[in-house]
Amino acid sequence: MTVRTIDPVPRIASQILLDKAELLGGRHAAEIRQILDQRGVVFFRDVNFTDDEQLAFAATLGTIRLGAIRKEGDRGIMTITRNPDDNPRYAEYFHGTFHWHMDGSYEDIPPLASILSARVLSATGGQTEFANSYAAWEDLPGDEKRALERLQVVHSMETLLRLAFPEPSDEQLESWRTSFIPKTHPLVWTHRSGRKSLVLGHSVTSIVGMAKPESDALLRKLMNWVTQPRFVYRHDWQPGDTLIWDNTGTLHRVEPYTADSGRTMQRVTLDGEEPLARAA
Ligand code: OGA
Ligand code: MN
Repeated sequence: MTVRTIDPVPRIASQILLDKAELLGGRHAAEIRQILDQRGVVFFRDVNFTDDEQLAFAATLGTIRLGAIRKEGDRGIMTITRNPDDNPRYAEYFHGTFHWHMDGSYEDIPPLASILSARVLSATGGQTEFANSYAAWEDLPGDEKRALERLQVVHSMETLLRLAFPEPSDEQLESWRTSFIPKTHPLVWTHRSGRKSLVLGHSVTSIVGMAKPESDALLRKLMNWVTQPRFVYRHDWQPGDTLIWDNTGTLHRVEPYTADSGRTMQRVTLDGEEPLARAA
């Protein structure tokens, strides 16, 4: 059986035409995973999941990321909001979501995917954009690919959050540095499938072994490349939507929204299934 899909733009994202009962039934899980891998983003309209339903659906697709260490809350559901009363510890980090990033770029095995449901929308802003970093890799000329494949990059939460807080307090710096230890990764992820993607985002501080001016210039060029309109899908949220992004092959960012907008999303994250770097 093949599910019906609508592709809003050519290179990324598919709307999958399944209803809530079909999603919860689990029968289409393997196919949804396959479409997610190929398209980077899949979404469903009018599903109106409760937290329990969203968790049950997530469990059909993979392993739900749980617990205090992973910061996803006890049951594996996390509220994404800028209202500090709702999510006191992490509201600050959500400022970082206004800039292109992948989640868990500080981990050896970054999350596979996140499942996000719209609860309260913002009157302005709050659209989420996704860039397909597999497609961006594929379209690079061969000689550039060969040069890039040798490079490693350092990811740091401080670099990302300095965009939101250009003059951080000592307390902020201390908290960012101890919560997220900077991580060196290959610039190019060779997945188990054999496909390759670029591992980028505004968390990238530098290219290892390259002088700062060259490193900054190359990173700017690569970010401009990956986020070209032809690799990007912008999701205009509607009430009842649920969307999944493949965190291993896309970057994402949110159109800024204000803390008093009320914007509230529920997120369930799936554990990664393969390390970003191959054992040497
Ligand atoms: C995230 C994130 C996007 C959004 O939850 O990791 O970047 O639209 N959120 O809130
Ligand atoms: Mn994110």
